[in-house]
Amino acid sequence: MALKKFVAGNWKMHGLSADLAEIKAIADAAKAYPSVDVALCVPAILIERATRAVPGLPIGGQDVHYAEKGAHTGCVSAQMLRDAGASLTIVGHSERRDAQRESDADVKAKAEAALACGLAAILCVGESLEVRETGGAVATVLAQLDASLPDTAELGRLSIAYEPIWAIGTGKVPTVAEIAEMHREIRGKLDQRYGADGAVRILYGGSVKGSNAAEIFAVADVDGALVGGASLKAEDFLPIVEAAAAG
Ligand code: 13P
Repeated sequence: MALKKFVAGNWKMHGLSADLAEIKAIADAAKAYPSVDVALCVPAILIERATRAVPGLPIGGQDVHYAEKGAHTGCVSAQMLRDAGASLTIVGHSERRDAQRESDADVKAKAEAALACGLAAILCVGESLEVRETGGAVATVLAQLDASLPDTAELGRLSIAYEPIWAIGTGKVPTVAEIAEMHREIRGKLDQRYGADGAVRILYGGSVKGSNAAEIFAVADVDGALVGGASLKAEDFLPIVEAAAAG
């Protein structure tokens, strides 16, 4: 079953008030591609202003706490994201798994909290360069999924992002065969876990650009992309959306 392509931008720790104009430019241009779901995950402090500036474009957070509320200094709950106008969030990005020491169990709890609150969730997995070079990429990613997939049924709102750590921000991209193998394995895992209805979209992330997007979107079981650096400017992001519409 072909799923509607989904192209999400992850702005990471980029974006000030002045950049709302860029978000607006992206939202306006994205309207020309109704066959693609487009979203931007911006810094939490920009979410509310972004949703006001571009009511038609789904705006997301980049992380969420798994607790509903409580003594968690500096954290943001799923309800807070929704309250600010977000409709989705990333969970388990490798930069958080690494720098914030997030475990698979944390990521699973975060995904469940987001989905239970009505948000869509993009759950990230991916292997290090060392693991890739020693032949353990598939086993590592499947083990991450085993331990971090949510035990919930809101599958239409769940996406998986396969983001090899060594491809993030480096300009290096796995071969088409490597992406195909990993996405096929992830699809198999999702079918095994949730039944083969195929509703969960599997995004590729890591150095996606206008110049390589078409080739990546042509790979079986690639249902979209999670885009970092190239999502910050409309002129870089829109060619990726266009490639998704064409693919
Ligand atoms: P780049 O597109 O900058 O490589 O980042 C990918 C990423 O980490 C998206 O979450």
